[in-house]
Amino acid sequence: MKRSIPELQGSEQPLVMVTAYDYPGGKHAQAADVDVILVGDSLGNVVLGYDSTAPVTLGDMIHHARAVRRGAPDTFMVVDLPFGTYHTGTQDAMRNAVKVIQETGADAVKMEGATTEILQVVDTLTRNGIPVMGHVGLMPQTATAQGGLRVQGKDDDTARRTLEGAVALERAGAFAVVLEAIPARLARLISERLAVPTIGIGAGVNCDGQVLVTHDLLGMYEGEDKKIAKRYAEIGKLSREAIAAYAAEVRARQFPAKENSFVMKDDVLDKLY
Ligand code: KIV
Repeated sequence: MKRSIPELQGSEQPLVMVTAYDYPGGKHAQAADVDVILVGDSLGNVVLGYDSTAPVTLGDMIHHARAVRRGAPDTFMVVDLPFGTYHTGTQDAMRNAVKVIQETGADAVKMEGATTEILQVVDTLTRNGIPVMGHVGLMPQTATAQGGLRVQGKDDDTARRTLEGAVALERAGAFAVVLEAIPARLARLISERLAVPTIGIGAGVNCDGQVLVTHDLLGMYEGEDKKIAKRYAEIGKLSREAIAAYAAEVRARQFPAKENSFVMKDDVLDKLY
């Protein structure tokens, strides 16, 4: 049963969010009864093989989110607006967010940052009925400007900016805020200050929810941040072993076996001979 925003905001238990990028990913996440599915632009790294999220396009996000929605019609689904699709003005952001909502069936969009321009976008979208999830701390889309993929909020300046950014996102109308790669004590302070839920990744246990990239938790992506992610399965290893076993059986003419083959009557075959 799909959770509503008030249900997500009022949850007594920590919220569970995972990423999904395709039909089976959506189906498994929904069957596992997560609260929120995020079609993250981590798509770029874990599915499309880029070394950052910057090349991911709006078309990529829509294509994948539609498949996720087919697998998970009854789960609250958030879709990342990718880099460049909300940075060129409020009108462009509005047009792109409407396209995502209309073409994917998403319940909300997510965007990174809390600059004056982005707060303006959040304000406009939410006033026009598009729920927005914010994202502060480490922001992969603009990581180069943050000095690389590194923990934020350890020093006075980035700690203050992260706290103020989260508070400003709530004021602008965000219904929840992702806190990525910040010290646990800062995440706790932010979570205490905000009325809307915080959803942490590499932000300690005192957030109102947690998110992980599914390919990281399933062991399907070699490049995960080992500090942030925990592997709950070794699907990558299992996949390699299964494909190697299939290859060995093909080469040994053991597959397909009799039970995998179709039969035909002798007289039909005889006529062909
Ligand atoms: O793109 C993504 O998967 C994300 C999560 C890491 C929060 O933004």
